[in-house]
Amino acid sequence: MPLMCGALEIVGEPMTSIESDMRRQRPAAALALFAVVVCTALPSYGSQEASGREGAVASRSPLATQVGIGVLRQGGNAIDAAVAMGFALAVTHPSAGNIGGGGFMVIRLADGELVANDHREKAPLEARRDMFQDDNGAIVEGLSTASHLAVGVPGTVDGLLNVLRRHGTLTRQQIIAPALALARDGFPLPADLAAQFERLRGRFEPYPASLAKFTRDDGSPLAAGDVFRQPDLAATLARIAEHGRGGFYEGTTADLIVTEMARGGGLISHRDLAEYRSVWRDPVRGTYRGHEIVSMPPPSSGGALLIQMLNMLEPYDLASLGRGSPPTVHLMVEAERRAYADRAEYLGDADFYDVPLARLMDKDYARSRFADFDPDAASRSADIGAGTWPTESPETTHVSVMDAHGNAVAYTTTLNLGYGSKIVVTGAGFLLNNEMDDFSSKPGVPNSFGLVGGEANAIEPGKRMLSSMTPTLVLKGGEPVLVTGSPGGSTIITTVLQVVTNVIDHGMDVGTAVATPRFHHQWLPNQVRYEPGAVSADTRTSLEKIGHVGFRETPGIGDANSVMRVGDEITARSDPRNAGAAAAY
Ligand code: GLY
Repeated sequence: MPLMCGALEIVGEPMTSIESDMRRQRPAAALALFAVVVCTALPSYGSQEASGREGAVASRSPLATQVGIGVLRQGGNAIDAAVAMGFALAVTHPSAGNIGGGGFMVIRLADGELVANDHREKAPLEARRDMFQDDNGAIVEGLSTASHLAVGVPGTVDGLLNVLRRHGTLTRQQIIAPALALARDGFPLPADLAAQFERLRGRFEPYPASLAKFTRDDGSPLAAGDVFRQPDLAATLARIAEHGRGGFYEGTTADLIVTEMARGGGLISHRDLAEYRSVWRDPVRGTYRGHEIVSMPPPSSGGALLIQMLNMLEPYDLASLGRGSPPTVHLMVEAERRAYADRAEYLGDADFYDVPLARLMDKDYARSRFADFDPDAASRSADIGAGTWPTESPETTHVSVMDAHGNAVAYTTTLNLGYGSKIVVTGAGFLLNNEMDDFSSKPGVPNSFGLVGGEANAIEPGKRMLSSMTPTLVLKGGEPVLVTGSPGGSTIITTVLQVVTNVIDHGMDVGTAVATPRFHHQWLPNQVRYEPGAVSADTRTSLEKIGHVGFRETPGIGDANSVMRVGDEITARSDPRNAGAAAAY
């Protein structure tokens, strides 16, 4: 088959062997996709930063980045590239890329229209408010993260196809072809993935399909450089390429998901899958020092909190105060404390709960909310509770894309924790999320990210769980100048805040804005978590003197793959904290 895919050229895998089960399942219509070339010869591979005038992409996965730039070079627009990268990430970045999870995409179209696609997972129709509590009302450890009950109804496939249908220019088959080829023919396993598979082996062991996917055929560990093939996932992608959403939410794939649920007492039914629909929402919009901020509305808390925090900070001259100085860190921590306290009280799925969105993002509200800010003293919160920090790496992943026509896409997608529930759907080859943990399982009890919530984010059948994902566009004079976002659970919003203020207040280029060390506060627990270099010893001493507590140095806050435009030059930057890649031309 004379298909030349850039990703496969790079890994040196000839397009010869086709898994026999794929052969059986490949009807005539699907054959068409193998003749379609969307990822031909590609330029440089694996750089952290790249600039061009036609288009730029950045992601956590070098192979997904190659797929995205290949789509742009073939004449696709930024939306085509982002959707193709979404499918590719499900193959090449299994800890967070997915078809068994959900995500948010914020898009600026070439004609200036701003739209957002919400394909967040939903609670199954059989879900109950107290489903993660025992008879005494105590939370059952692990039930909302490591069980079939932890799985929300996946939204990614409907969302990506919905976005492509409405705003893409290439066909579904063209867009899915690179991901399908990577799954079917495999790619040399990068060292970081091999190490993750080995580390999580014990977590995969209860689920034979998971163990089989992430080990060799004889059960021994996959090593870096082994060709990692995913035939069941390839078959699922082929069904989606052929049938569209029906290839996932109905027929064979739906049967396999429902059977997997029955295997472990999960709740997702055929009806849940058939009724799932992604939703077009109006992005939230705010302003900050002459820029427009465009981000994700509920069920994300990210956009509202980002705009609220920027509103609180706007009256202060952060540029003169200096990045990382005691007054700047104090201001930002106090803005974060107040915004995250509001998150716990007011934010949830706006289709189920009356979220006071306009008030939260109002500049007057920010002024009154920040009126008790004391430049000489940390706030004394009476409500400090028993929050905890995540015990697993908070995994999610973010893609940024811009093209020369003025299309810009910020796409954040997730399985929740790394490798989600760790459950691979037997026979379908993809991981299921554990997004149910993003609900408030019990008012006041923190979830895996230490976040507390109440009524607004209580579990209800068909409701979307609150998210922190913050895919964000910054516009100037109506034109996109920055695309950013990040993984990191509760730290997503403060990561995006810092990238935005690094660019707008501190005049950094995108590389510096992304690389600069970060800090984080989320109200509860009352801790300032910071990367080495983000808070100097002197700054920490100054802040402790005015009452800040709980300083904790930690590596790796966020992974903010971003794209920035200056004049005609578009620069993509993958976050140096991880082994991602940027590409441009
Ligand atoms: N699962 C992480 C988030 O959506 O915020």
